[in-house]
Amino acid sequence: MQTKITELFNIKYPIIQGGMHYVGFAELAAAVSNAGGLGIITALTQPSADDLKKEILKCKELTDNPIGVNLTFLPSLAAPDYPAYIQAIIDCGVKIVETAGRNPEPYMEYFKNNGIKVIHKCTSVRHSLKAEKIGCDAVSVDGFECGGHPGEDDVPNMILLPRAADELTIPFVASGGMADGRSLMAALSLGASGINMGTRFMATKEAPIHQNVKEALIDASELDTKLIMRSLRNTERVLNNKAVEEIVNTEKKLGTKLNFSDIEEQVAGVYPKVMQDGEMDIGAWSCGMVVGLINDIPTVKELIDRVIEQAKDIHNSNKVIF
Ligand SMILES: Cc1cc2nc3c(=O)[nH]c(=O)nc-3n(C[C@H](O)[C@H](O)[C@H](O)COP(=O)(O)O)c2cc1C
Repeated sequence: MQTKITELFNIKYPIIQGGMHYVGFAELAAAVSNAGGLGIITALTQPSADDLKKEILKCKELTDNPIGVNLTFLPSLAAPDYPAYIQAIIDCGVKIVETAGRNPEPYMEYFKNNGIKVIHKCTSVRHSLKAEKIGCDAVSVDGFECGGHPGEDDVPNMILLPRAADELTIPFVASGGMADGRSLMAALSLGASGINMGTRFMATKEAPIHQNVKEALIDASELDTKLIMRSLRNTERVLNNKAVEEIVNTEKKLGTKLNFSDIEEQVAGVYPKVMQDGEMDIGAWSCGMVVGLINDIPTVKELIDRVIEQAKDIHNSNKVIF
């Protein structure tokens, strides 16, 4: 299966595993790349640039195929040492970076001078066009249904993807709500050149996260996610739990007077406790509506093979008679 994305990243299948905090470690990224997709290590989960180097080298021991690194530009006052993280990426010879959050323009020269291809995550057509203008090679278009930060426009992928197709000249992948061969075929039909999956890859054997998290994904339906932090203009889609209910109640009570400090306890620093210790009610963690389509915990290879087989079946079937 060849698309502009398989050609750009030199991968077998147009399937990317998006960066995920405390999920995107070497084991998962290598499994995805070995299965023919593009596995991505999440830089900021690593406490320092040196730790990122070690994680990349570990991943390179596990796969000879291309891998990427996610670099999320956070809206934080105490910014991580981004130049050091980028240097680690360059030193380790990684040639694909997935950027997210703020505009990556200040770092584009670094990337380009070192032969790194950049795919920027965008939740709107205007941000996608900006990414194209500043020299990004591709865009990951994240619809309203996505796990993590869907932005503030609330446009679902049924609309956002064809809008992106109408405006962009660089290739893009569909992100948010992607789970199987039906998603892949739909994404291609709407103008994307592949898919990016986050939540679906968490429920795989190789995802290095607590079994409780994987089981929570199996138990949940498409009705079980909530949006938090809207009034802070930092909206995040998360799986509902006790802590999230507390956040939602605090947000209702305080309205536009909400400060981050009012919900900090349930939001800041909770990822290791959820993903590694399996404490399911301790805080808010990203999860997409696609959780309603997750019913098992296959290996990454089984999942990717299944996506491709189902896509081929749809392509070859004569379900529609004109
Ligand atoms: C647990 C989790 C953590 C995530 N962490 C990040 C992150 O650190 N940086 C980032 O750019 N995207 C992050 N994302 C977003 C994913 O890369 C991807 O864009 C999103 O999950 C796609 O939507 P889906 O979950 O419906 O597949 C995260 C998603 C999840 C589910």
